[in-house]
Amino acid sequence: MDPNASGLAMRLAEAGQSHLLQFWKKLSPEEQSDLTVDLQGMDFQEINGFFKKAMDTSSSAKQEKLDARMEPVPREVLGSVTRDKERLKDWEEAGLHCISQSKVAVLLLAGGQGTRLGVSYPKGMYDVGLPSHKTLFQIQAERILKLQQLAEQKHKIKCCIPWYIMTSGRTMGSTKDYFSQHNYFGLEKNNIIFFQQGMLPAMDYNGKIILESKGKLSMAPDGNGGLYRALGNQGIIDDMERRGTEFIHVYCVDNILVKVADPSFIGFCVKKGAECGAKVVEKTNPTEAVGVVSKVDGHYQVVEYSEITLATAEKRSDDGRLMFNAGNVANHFFSFSFLRDVVQKYEPELQHHVAQKKIPYVNAEGQLVKPDKPNGIKMEKFVFDIFQFAKTFVVYEVLREDEFSPLKNADSQDAKDTPTTARHGLMSLHHRWVLNGGGHFIDENGRHVPAIPSLKDGTDLPIKCEISPLVSYGGEGLEELVKGREFHPNLLIDEKGVHELVKNGV
Ligand code: UD1
Repeated sequence: MDPNASGLAMRLAEAGQSHLLQFWKKLSPEEQSDLTVDLQGMDFQEINGFFKKAMDTSSSAKQEKLDARMEPVPREVLGSVTRDKERLKDWEEAGLHCISQSKVAVLLLAGGQGTRLGVSYPKGMYDVGLPSHKTLFQIQAERILKLQQLAEQKHKIKCCIPWYIMTSGRTMGSTKDYFSQHNYFGLEKNNIIFFQQGMLPAMDYNGKIILESKGKLSMAPDGNGGLYRALGNQGIIDDMERRGTEFIHVYCVDNILVKVADPSFIGFCVKKGAECGAKVVEKTNPTEAVGVVSKVDGHYQVVEYSEITLATAEKRSDDGRLMFNAGNVANHFFSFSFLRDVVQKYEPELQHHVAQKKIPYVNAEGQLVKPDKPNGIKMEKFVFDIFQFAKTFVVYEVLREDEFSPLKNADSQDAKDTPTTARHGLMSLHHRWVLNGGGHFIDENGRHVPAIPSLKDGTDLPIKCEISPLVSYGGEGLEELVKGREFHPNLLIDEKGVHELVKNGV
């Protein structure tokens, strides 16, 4: 339909976005109709408002002021797997009890585009090259399955951990197909609930929406904080209420070591009466790409790695550790009532963050240009921006080597957080589980392999060892399989048994 007749041209003119129709006459009827559908679904005044606010808050002067107001997390809100060892069992039991009552749900943020990893499919479908070739999605699914079994065995009651999976327009179809093709990895189909986050257009520095082709806007997901809007408008909060969910563990797709629905973390948060909690690891390198949990003007928040100044990131305490060392591993706890309040009351108060990007665009001649420096912004809300609204907030500190090895980048020399580091992170953890269970590894001459991986040619190769989550969720239950036994360093333990695979390196 003619954009003048439909009133669309007028709406665009009022919002200063008329350029979006500049190629109208050159488009085919199908392209015209697709563009009309896209444009009609958008609220330009709202988008312009987002742009103005986001640009305003991201100015560097404001950022420096934020740095000056940051304080580290105080000890009284902190639980730690190393410093509070004597409480761990209690917390774990409390969490497992909540799980057995089907009060715990997990929520996976999987709407990102995996740009840095450089794959065109959802990151959860990535195979990092483990002996089993399981993908991130499969590993997470099996951990949920195992945890349900552990809770059922302990409390003699059938339970379920619903799994909410947030995707975006770009990842929904392939994610759903993948789960269906793999029969939901043994979980019940009805207990995996997919929903979709919103998208926002990329804009140039003058607030004009960017066209990626003559008839198509440049769109991207609205950040993992798009979660809260989606929870409301996709009926997910209602679904949680219907199921009697009381506690939610929210996590990101890319951490191969993630303890999905971690009973100790949940138990700790529940026992502290927290509305909201964040899991952290110690940040040791000032430039590591992790946000830091801190207090600003008396409220908790994550100051993202892209928004902290180097001077603040480098500050050290008297003991030599980084002052802001509560590294966010993107594992959050929410009570259901808090999450519902966020969705119903606080969501509109969240502001978008600005990411400056090189955004391909069509110029006035209709040619595609790929800029070599940033030419515009993408706007994103962040999942942790709701911490400020929590009346009780706690932080749970875990060990990096046990719980955090994210997959962010493709393999290349010097790259961090790659398929190789993720694979090694998992195998080295499972190696330690075998040792803790009383097993040993031997080399080709029958000699015990040292417990600490050796440095060969400067490469730190771990022992090749993988344990299926269906056998052990967190290292438990292995003694009967490994105690007193010797293994060659190419071991796979799964539900079918203990297998020693061909003897070669990784
Ligand atoms: C994220 C955290 C950072 C933390 C780090 C740990 C945020 C905003 N930042 O950073 O503080 O230290 O992980 O690894 O959480 N996603 C969506 N929709 C989107 C964008 C992202 O669902 O629109 C999901 C991704 O699929 C992924 C997660 O959010 O599961 C994190 O996204 P990513 O962009 O990889 O975050 P980082 O910058 O690594």
